Amino acid sequence: MSTLRVLFATSEVYPLSKTGGLADVSYSLPRALAAQGVDVRLLIPGYPAVLDQLLLIEVYENILVFPNSTPVRILAGIMPGGVNPVYVIDCPSLYVRDGGPYLDEQGNEWPDNALRFAALSKVAALFGNHVFLFKPHVVHCNDWQTGLAPAYMNYHPSLSRAKSLMSVHNIAYQGVFGLEVAELFGLPPTNMQRVVQLLGLPLESFGVEGLEYHSKLSFLKAGLHYADWLTTVSPTYAKDVQTAAFGYGLQGLLTARQSSLSGILNGIDTEAWDPKTDSHLAKNYSIEHLPAKGENTKALRAKLGLEQSSRKPLLGMITRLTYQKGLDLLVPVIPDIIQAGAQLVLLGSGDKELESRLLQYAKLSPSQISVNLGYNEALAHQIEAGADIFLMPSLFEPCGLNQMYSMRYGTIPIVRRTGGLADTVIDAHPANLEKGIATGFVFEEEDAHQLLECVYQAVTLFRNREIWRTLQINGMSRDFSWQSSAKEYCALYRRLSQS
Ligand code: ADP
Ligand code: GLC
Repeated sequence: MSTLRVLFATSEVYPLSKTGGLADVSYSLPRALAAQGVDVRLLIPGYPAVLDQLLLIEVYENILVFPNSTPVRILAGIMPGGVNPVYVIDCPSLYVRDGGPYLDEQGNEWPDNALRFAALSKVAALFGNHVFLFKPHVVHCNDWQTGLAPAYMNYHPSLSRAKSLMSVHNIAYQGVFGLEVAELFGLPPTNMQRVVQLLGLPLESFGVEGLEYHSKLSFLKAGLHYADWLTTVSPTYAKDVQTAAFGYGLQGLLTARQSSLSGILNGIDTEAWDPKTDSHLAKNYSIEHLPAKGENTKALRAKLGLEQSSRKPLLGMITRLTYQKGLDLLVPVIPDIIQAGAQLVLLGSGDKELESRLLQYAKLSPSQISVNLGYNEALAHQIEAGADIFLMPSLFEPCGLNQMYSMRYGTIPIVRRTGGLADTVIDAHPANLEKGIATGFVFEEEDAHQLLECVYQAVTLFRNREIWRTLQINGMSRDFSWQSSAKEYCALYRRLSQS
């Protein structure tokens, strides 16, 4: 069989730039694909951290992205440990600035995000239309930031063009923009048709059967409408997004396209997340040396100023502080959790009001609650290893990676049954314990009391060392590597490239 060529277009990739799980997936899935013989190359925007960290950069192409404006260079660089080369869009006016990939230092969206990610989409589409030397069979687009690529590819078909795949990592973020986009081109805000033309798309694309969403332009809707195939990052989420509760307004379109939609479960990077070798840990451990996990708990408590106690389970949580992650369920029951004889360590950043509410709890019980704000890769690993229980009470969760990291680290997850959490964690009810398959605690409803019940159950079982050890071993024995999901992607790419 001939080698499959895939362009993986993404707005973040670990370790160059990361705000969440998309960066982890953008690093580890391409590596797993390459291991299966796919010639996969990344395309990312040239944020300062990307330009600084890539090695051996050379100019690959010079182009204009939009009609009459915005010259950019496409660079090719080397990312140590990743798949190579990595293509980078070098356009300082769009990407070189302090702050994050999507937000400024105050947490506000960059006002020119429409242009920044239309440019990413456009360059992905140029690769897809076989304009450059690397001619992919498939352009794999990820989330709204690359959503216009399938539209561009659709309206500029060349004799041989790639197929487009749109992966939804989170449908809550859609990239919806209005007339303000015209002003970014220095023009008065007249009408949306003009905006679409400025972005290099034809007038007819701006309709309900196209990129229009309630009179605005939706990047994600464009991707979902025009792509040859759609995936979500877990099978359950593929069903969830077809419902009004989880589809965020796009459930109708996804239902209409269900024959071209599949869910492929994310894997994890089993090298970076391996308690046997993780260099961030106080002590490495494995199923065979499980008691050594306790050294990490001690070290974590010491580092964070928590009381040392082997009777109290330590609950961990590492998260973006947003509505999605179910903090509204957790925050009201924090006093009950402490009352039940557990401790809490949280690492996260995001919503400022949530941050200050959490800090207040930590101030009241500094020996039982540790709240750490900001992004901290080392501490994330230390919490995965040091905590006994991991909390993910998400209201929705397209896949979720931390519950898989937790199980691999013998840290028992408590999750809500939604999306990828439902697909990866098996509840510790008696029948599952009996069958030897239970790996965690699962609750059903968006209800703080159900979460608390699970915590009580976990605290009780924690004191039964035998059952607890079985839960740990069940989780640690599961295969969360990319192997089987990367095979599914390969098969999908192959099918698309032959259709
Ligand atoms: P999402 O992408 O929705 O945020 P995931 O569970 O898929 O959720 O992935 C989150 C990733 O980001 C994990 O690798 C997690 O460890 C990491 N992460 C989230 N917040 C922080 C933080 N404050 N510090 C370090 N890592 C974090
Ligand atoms: C998104 C989702 C998360 C998923 C990640 C990687 O950020 O919120 O559930 O694991 O993408 O696919």
